[in-house]
Amino acid sequence: MKAIRVEEYGGPEVLAYTDVERPQPKAGEALVRHEAVGVNFIDVYHRTGLYPLPLPFTPGSEAAGVVEAVEDGVTDVKVGDRVAYAMGLGAYAEYAAVPAARLVRVPSGVDAQTATAAMLQGMTAHYLVTSTYPLKEGEAALVHAAAGGVGLLLIQLAKRIGARVFGTVSNEAKAQLAREAGADEVIIYTEQDFQQEVRRATGGRGVEVVYDSVGQTTYMQSLDSLAPRGMLALFGQSSGKVPPFDAGLLAQKGSLFLTRPTLAHYTATREELLWRAGEVFDWLGAGELKLRIGSTFPLSEAAEAHRQLEGRATTGKVLLMP
Ligand SMILES: NC(=O)c1ccc[n+]([C@@H]2O[C@H](COP(=O)([O-])OP(=O)(O)OC[C@H]3O[C@@H](n4cnc5c(N)ncnc54)[C@H](OP(=O)(O)O)[C@@H]3O)[C@@H](O)[C@H]2O)c1
Repeated sequence: MKAIRVEEYGGPEVLAYTDVERPQPKAGEALVRHEAVGVNFIDVYHRTGLYPLPLPFTPGSEAAGVVEAVEDGVTDVKVGDRVAYAMGLGAYAEYAAVPAARLVRVPSGVDAQTATAAMLQGMTAHYLVTSTYPLKEGEAALVHAAAGGVGLLLIQLAKRIGARVFGTVSNEAKAQLAREAGADEVIIYTEQDFQQEVRRATGGRGVEVVYDSVGQTTYMQSLDSLAPRGMLALFGQSSGKVPPFDAGLLAQKGSLFLTRPTLAHYTATREELLWRAGEVFDWLGAGELKLRIGSTFPLSEAAEAHRQLEGRATTGKVLLMP
C-alpha cells in the first residue's frame, strides 16, 4: 500500500510517500481502509522528534474509513462498518490496523471527511470545555489560535454553553472566521497586546479560563489574562515548548491553576471515548457545531500540508486523501 514514512526526524521533507507492507491486524484489532486522514499538530511534534517515536514510523493519529477485516476478540465493530479513530499512529496510509476498542462507528449521513474532522480536534474541544475547565454560562474564556482546527470548535462549544468568548488570531482573514464561529471579541495578537485587550474588555478582572495551544509565545500573558483563581489549560505548543517556571508565580498572579492536559487521558476508557465522540457527532447532526474543512491534500502531498500547518497558513481542519 501507499504510505508516508519518516526515516529520520526533521522538516516536512522527511515525509516520504512510499510503498510499504499493508499492516496485519493482531488479536483485538481491525483493518481499516482509510477514506480520509486527519492532519494534526501532534503529527508535526512526531515528525520533528519533539515527541520521539522509534524510527522509522508512519505518522498520523486520525482517520475515517471502512472495516475490511477483524481479528479474534473484536466485538465492537464488524466488517463493512464505517468507523473513525483518533490518537492512533500510522494514519498517513491507505490502511491501518487499529485496536477495535479505539474505533467509533460513524453515524449514517456523516461522510468520511466530516467524520475525520470531528474526531481528534472535536473531542479535544469537548474535553477542554466539559472536563478540564467545565465552563459555565456567563463566564469568560480566551481561546488562542481561534481560527485553527481546535480553535474554531472551542469557540462554538464555549458559546453553546453561554460563555463570553475572546479569540486570538494572527490576521484579519482569520479574525473573520473566528467571528463567524461566534467569538464575541477577536484580538489580532500579532498586532495587539491580548492581555491588555482582555483586561480592558473585562473591566480589569480577566477571564476564568484560557485555552492555550500556542505555548511559548503566549503562556505568560495567558496567565496575566486570568481572573483570580482562574485556570490556564495549556494544551499545546504550536509556537514551541514552555520553559520550566516557578510555581510561585501562580500564587503571585492570583492563586491560579495550571494544567497540561492531553486527549489520551480524557478518552482513556471506551465509555469516555464513545461519550465524547457521540456528543460531538450529535451536535454536528443537530447543527449546533459546524466543521470547517479548510484544506485537503492528496496523501502524497503530506509534506506540503505540514508546511502550511506550521507556516500558520491553514484554517480549520486539514485533511489528506489516500
Ligand atoms: N493536548 C491535546 O489533547 C491536544 C489535542 C489536539 C490539539 N492539541 C494542540 O492544539 C494546537 C492546535 O492544533 P491544531 O491541529 O488544531 O492546529 P491549528 O490550531 O489549526 O494550527 C496551529 C495554529 O497555531 C497558531 N500559531 C501561533 N504561533 C505559531 C507558530 N509559531 N507556529 C505555528 N503556528 C502557530 C497559528 O494560528 P494563528 O496564525 O492565528 O496564530 C496556527 O494556525 C496544537 O498546539 C496541538 O498540539 C492538543
